[in-house]
Amino acid sequence: MPLRSQDWFGRTGKDGFIYRAWMKNQGFPHHEFEGKPVIGICNTWSELTPCNAHFRELAEAIKRGVWEAGGFPLEFPVMSLGECQIKPTAMLFRNLASMDVEESIRGNSLDAVILMCGCDKTTPSLVMGACSVDLPTLVVSGGPMLAGRFQGRKIGTSDLWRFAEAYKMGEMSQSEFVAAEASMARSQGHCAVMGTASTMAAMVESLGLALPDNATIPAADSRRKVLAHLTGIRAVELAREGITPSKILTRQAFENAIMVNAALGGSTNFILHLTAIAGRVGVDLSLDDFDTLSAKIPLLTNLQPSGEHFVEDLFYAGGLPAVIRELREYIHNDTLTVNGRTLGENCAEAQCYDPTVIATVEKPFKPESGIAVLRGNLCPNGAVLKPSAATPALMKHTGRAVVFENIDDYKARIDDPELDVDPTCVLVMKNVGPKGYPGMPEVGNMQLPAKVLAQGVHDMVRISDGRMSGTGFGTVVLHVSPEAAVGGNLALVQNGDLITLDVENRSLHLHVSDEELAGRLVHFKPLDLGYDRGYVNLYIRHVTQAHEGADFDFLRGASGSEVKRDSH
Ligand code: FES
Ligand code: MG
Repeated sequence: MPLRSQDWFGRTGKDGFIYRAWMKNQGFPHHEFEGKPVIGICNTWSELTPCNAHFRELAEAIKRGVWEAGGFPLEFPVMSLGECQIKPTAMLFRNLASMDVEESIRGNSLDAVILMCGCDKTTPSLVMGACSVDLPTLVVSGGPMLAGRFQGRKIGTSDLWRFAEAYKMGEMSQSEFVAAEASMARSQGHCAVMGTASTMAAMVESLGLALPDNATIPAADSRRKVLAHLTGIRAVELAREGITPSKILTRQAFENAIMVNAALGGSTNFILHLTAIAGRVGVDLSLDDFDTLSAKIPLLTNLQPSGEHFVEDLFYAGGLPAVIRELREYIHNDTLTVNGRTLGENCAEAQCYDPTVIATVEKPFKPESGIAVLRGNLCPNGAVLKPSAATPALMKHTGRAVVFENIDDYKARIDDPELDVDPTCVLVMKNVGPKGYPGMPEVGNMQLPAKVLAQGVHDMVRISDGRMSGTGFGTVVLHVSPEAAVGGNLALVQNGDLITLDVENRSLHLHVSDEELAGRLVHFKPLDLGYDRGYVNLYIRHVTQAHEGADFDFLRGASGSEVKRDSH
C-alpha cells in the first residue's frame, strides 16, 4: 500500500516542489521525503497548560524512536487546554480543540499520528479529533506528578477541597495555603490522584490506544521517556500495518474501558468523554451501559479521591496491567491494542507488588465502584453519581431543596447566615449544564454553607446539571439531563420541594406532581446568555446534552483521511 504521505512528498512537477521545498528550510535532506512513513506528533505543549509543560522534552524522546525505526517525525501544535487556567471552563473548548486536531491531521502529509495528551481535556479532544480522521493513532500521556509533600504528609489535588474548607473556617492561614500550593504541584505532570487526567490516561490504555504502562509511569520518571521512545518506534510499524482506531475501538474495547474505570474509581467526566469518542467511531454507547457494566466490578484500587494513595503508587504496585489482569474474568481479553497484541496478552504477566494499593476481586478495596446512573422525574434522561466517593449514609436520603438559580446566585448566598439550610437539606444548583453555563463547569461538588461546615458536617446531597472535578468527592448528583437551561424539570425545582435520592434503586425523585410541574413550566423563561456571535454562539447552538457526551451534533461520526484537492 503506498504511503499516504507520498501524495504530498512523492509528487513530481509543481505540486511536489511546493510540498517539499519549504519543508527543506528545516534542513531535512531529500531522502527523508522518499517513502519514509511520516509520523505526526500532535503536541499540546503549553506554558498555560502546566500539566503538559514538559511535552517538548517528551516529544524529543518520541522522535528518537521514530528516527530509529526509519520514520520521519514531524511535530505540530494544537490547541491546548489548561484545566486550572482557562476560563470559564476547559470543557467549553474540548470540542473546539477536537476540530483543530481533526483538521490538522487530515490536511497534512501524515501516515500515522502520536497524540501527546496530559491535562484532563487534552486527551478526549485529541482522541475525538483523531478518530474522525482514522489514521493509525497512538497516545503518549504526560504522566502523573509525584505526590505532593506538605507538613510531613503526602498530598494531592483532592486535598485542595479539604484545604479550601479549612481556610474558609479559619483553620488554615493564608501563608499555609500558599505553602500548600507549591508543595502539592512540586513536579512535572498532571494531577497525582485518580482525577480526570489519570482517568483519561487509563482510558486510552484500556481501550488499546496506548502501550502498556502509559497510564501510570510518573512524568518525572525516566521510564516515561522510554515509553515515548518505544511509542515512536511502534508508530512507524503501525503506519505500515495500517491499524487504525476504527479497528481497535470496538464495542468490546469500550466495555473494557468502562470496567477498568470502575475498578479504578475513575472520574465521572469519563462518561462524557468516552460517550463522545464512541460517537466519533459509531459505537452505540448509552448512559445505562456505564451502570450495567460497572455493576459487577468492585473497586480494586485504593487511590484518592475514593481512597488514600496516588497514581505514582499504582505504578510501583504493578500499574494498570496488574489491575487489568485482576479483572481478567470480567473483561474481553481478546481486544486488539496498538502494539499488535491483545489486551489480555499485554497484561498476562503483570503482578501486584503492593496489595494495599491494588486489592483482589475476592477481597476488594470497596464493594461498590463505578458510576450509578439515576433516573426519575428530575432527570428523565439520566444523572450520575460516583458511589465510591459518596457518603454511604446519604445514598438513601430525602431532604428539602435549597435552590440556587445559577452559579452567581450560589456564590452570593451560600455563606449568608440567613440562608435557610441545615445538613439534611439538598443543595440544588441550576444552569451549570452544557448550554446553561455555557460549557458545563466542574462546580457540582459545591462547597457546603459555612454554617453547616461549622457544625462539623462535611457532606450533603448536592444536585446539578454540571460536572465535578475528577479529584472531587461527596454525595454529588451530576450531569442532570435534560439540563435546566433547556427547560428540564431541574429548572422547575423550588425552595422547600422534597427530593429523594435512592442510589440502590437508581432513582432521583422530585416530590412534585406532574400537574404542578406542568403549571410551573408555563412560567419557564429560557436564559438570554447574550452570546450572539463567535465560538460560544456556535457551542450553544450545537452542543448535545450530557447523556450524549456533550459533543457537537455535527461532529458525530468520521470523515476519513482523504483530501481530494491540492493546495495550489
Ligand atoms: Fe491538569 Fe489536574 S489540572 S490534570
Ligand atoms: Mg478537571
